Amino acid sequence: MGYYEALAGGGPLTAPELAARTGTQARYAREWLEQQTVAGILAVENEGAPAEARRYFLPPGHDEVLAQPDSLNYLAPLAQMLAGAVRPLDRVLQAYRQGGGVPLEAYGADFREGQGRVNRVMFLAQLGSEWLPAIPDLHARLQADPPARVADLGCGAGWSSIGIALGYPKVVVDGFDSDLPVIVSEAQGGSGDGGSEGSVAFEPESRSETPRAADKVSSSVEGTPQGGRRSGLQPRQRRPGAAGLAVVRGPIKRTASTRIG
Ligand SMILES: C[S@@+](CC[C@H](N)C(=O)[O-])C[C@H]1O[C@@H](n2cnc3c(N)ncnc32)[C@H](O)[C@@H]1O
Repeated sequence: MGYYEALAGGGPLTAPELAARTGTQARYAREWLEQQTVAGILAVENEGAPAEARRYFLPPGHDEVLAQPDSLNYLAPLAQMLAGAVRPLDRVLQAYRQGGGVPLEAYGADFREGQGRVNRVMFLAQLGSEWLPAIPDLHARLQADPPARVADLGCGAGWSSIGIALGYPKVVVDGFDSDLPVIVSEAQGGSGDGGSEGSVAFEPESRSETPRAADKVSSSVEGTPQGGRRSGLQPRQRRPGAAGLAVVRGPIKRTASTRIG
């Protein structure tokens, strides 16, 4: 609902003010504000005021965890992941009793989006500039010629692929994921949000196919984002459960959603 963001951006706020800014109902906003305050997450500026006039705010430090996506301490998407984690509970129970498994797509958009959002800052801020440089041989190869070709298996929302390309401008990263909507949703609203002015493309791939060779991959790309709000990407398929292939070509400029801080 954007409550934390509204408080971080414009607090302290009363319940009616919060409701107005987020397009929600004041009665429910008040319930939420009071619960969050009793739980110690929010604080009240004027405790003695009538309920509707009490002004709530995020105490220092809390906003970083709850409303700052570019902070390494940002954890708000874990709540979104929790909502997704319990979605197929009946299927999980059935699997425990009868065997078999529960496919990732059964967990739905909240789980995959939450995963992408909670990991984004680490991949953009640390993967290509701290984690991989800590492996000397790999670091040297990723900087060397001929340019390395990286396969990012299970790339999810694609932030890890972009993080590698940011850290190593020469490399070409192919990100693979068996869950197409993970990649497609980021292509449409995440990394495609003007986030990469290098070439980032998302391509559906048959689950049974092995990763294709570089030339063939690039020749099958249908669009590349050039900045701006929309990516311009047109994935050929949006079939849940279909596999996806992300192709990330450096150099990637840091803009919009790939810029940290
Ligand atoms: C734990 S998530 C991690 C996603 C991403 N790397 C991140 O850290 O945000 C694992 C990912 O692996 C993908 N995956 C699982 N099995 C796969 C397979 N056999 N082939 C390709 N992707 C797979 C899932 O769809 C999921 O997006």
